[in-house]
Amino acid sequence: MPQLIAGNWKMHCLAADAVALAQGVAAGAAGVEAELLICPTALHVAAVAAALRGSSVAVGGQDCHQDAQGAHTGDVAAPMLLDAGASWVILGHSERRQNHGETDELVREKCLAAVAAGLTPIVCVGETADQRSGGQETEVVGWQIAGSLPKPFSGVVAYEPVWAIGTGKTATNEDVATMHAFIREELVRQFGEAGQTIRILYGGSVKPSNAAALLAVPNVGGALVGGASLKADEFLTIARAAQGG
Ligand code: PGA
Repeated sequence: MPQLIAGNWKMHCLAADAVALAQGVAAGAAGVEAELLICPTALHVAAVAAALRGSSVAVGGQDCHQDAQGAHTGDVAAPMLLDAGASWVILGHSERRQNHGETDELVREKCLAAVAAGLTPIVCVGETADQRSGGQETEVVGWQIAGSLPKPFSGVVAYEPVWAIGTGKTATNEDVATMHAFIREELVRQFGEAGQTIRILYGGSVKPSNAAALLAVPNVGGALVGGASLKADEFLTIARAAQGG
């Protein structure tokens, strides 16, 4: 399976900038063996999907509601993302868990809603700095996997240590190898053979200078890229460092 390089644009870009950035990525995507995905704010999913039409780059949302429709002011439903041109959705990002109080249970419900709508979920897990310094990182991630992923699970897991997100600090290749091996074990324990093929992305300050080394770590199935995905050339350099199928 090819590695997946996903750009999480978070709350960045006005419409014209989003379209220009998407066009820049699409223009350089030919010949890239990795699978490419861009996740703009929900408001720009349709415009970005239109800009990417005919390219190999997919579009995703950054969150969805657990219900397919209803009286939920300000929320976006999974079928709306699909309707706008998305085929993926990021769920349980640590910024959602921290800023919006999202629990494992809620993330699991959102996951079910995403799959029911026809979207592929990318479920984020990862420990805080305090949890790592307390030696609890694997325990925390194990609980997040057990609580956030529905059974069966047809999606992708993203390991994003919270302390590495947007900080410029990356986990060492050894830490990534240890955690991804642990996540693989957990997936196999919880999902049997199917757990062998679930892609596990690494996220947290991935940039052109560290991408090749991180993407070469065993059990790393791609990258979830924040800051560096806001520049087409940086995102494409990371994508070219990834492995094809
Ligand atoms: P970063 O963000 O690459 O800017 O650290 C990653 C993420 O939050 O998905």
